[in-house]
Amino acid sequence: PLKSMAKLAAVASILAASFNVFAEPVEIKFSHVVAENTPKGQMALKFKELIEQRLPGEYVVNVFPNSQLFGDNNELAALLLNDVQFVAPSLSKFERYTKKLQIFDLPFLFEDMAAVDRFQQSDAGQKLLNSMNRKGVVGLGYLHNGMKQFSANDPLELPKDANGKKFRIMASDVIAAQFDAVGAIPVKKPFSEVFTLLQTRAIDGQENTWSNIYSKKFYEVQSYITESNHGVLDYMVVTSNTFWKSLPADKRAIFKSSLEEAITLGNSIAAEKGNKDKQTILDSGRSELVTLTPADRQQWVNAMKPVWAKFEDQIGKDMINAAQAANT
Ligand code: LMR
Repeated sequence: PLKSMAKLAAVASILAASFNVFAEPVEIKFSHVVAENTPKGQMALKFKELIEQRLPGEYVVNVFPNSQLFGDNNELAALLLNDVQFVAPSLSKFERYTKKLQIFDLPFLFEDMAAVDRFQQSDAGQKLLNSMNRKGVVGLGYLHNGMKQFSANDPLELPKDANGKKFRIMASDVIAAQFDAVGAIPVKKPFSEVFTLLQTRAIDGQENTWSNIYSKKFYEVQSYITESNHGVLDYMVVTSNTFWKSLPADKRAIFKSSLEEAITLGNSIAAEKGNKDKQTILDSGRSELVTLTPADRQQWVNAMKPVWAKFEDQIGKDMINAAQAANT
């Protein structure tokens, strides 16, 4: 009887292994730095929903918002250590992995989000998804947030108004040069610290999209928001080569298509939220809107556009031309 029980146990374990019946689902982590009520927050939750629906019992996706698990300073390193499987940093935060994505930070390059989208979907834009492959980072797709606005304690109408003021920026040399160009002092800080830096007046201002200014309550601690639309804040959803290659091909295809669907939802939220969050901020009366006349805006363009030339060699003139072509 002992022998037949052992046989039975062996058969059961082979069955269990082949049908995966007793196996625990594999945990996938998605970490990000923004709130849940944002394009990225909603995209990540949709991705979780789709994976768990399409690969039930095989995978669970745990989403960690608000820099809870990893923040700006360590999320990409954590990805390469396979401590997290998906992150979606803003395109400004990949500088240590590639200089090519700096194109997205050039001030006044894209006229609007439609132009950004056309460039991202073009051959040139799609090529950039592979720009970090050699570093082990796999670009899976772009996600929109929106155009950036300036906020500050004082109204910023002309470039001279920024002179001598401290601005929190993302860790991007292009954005640093953009603020240098108007005599301001750029301070690179992680997103998780921005509210406190503004509240304590350790810094005077910052630049961000309407949905980030709203969901992180920056508007409660900044008296003025200048509607400058001077640059884009978008994301790349990335995974590591190690994790991506470890997935069986059929599962990888499901991950890919689910992510694409989640991104489509995120993009529609981005388009909608820009206006909605702007209106909520203005209705609150906590922040005053500064609207630029075309002549005033042109002064910002004239002051900041020379930054392009400084980064042209690193980014590539062809890329810049391709991006400009997307404006028409
Ligand atoms: C920022 O640091 O301001 C943004 O990149 C945050 C984000 O992910 O939208």
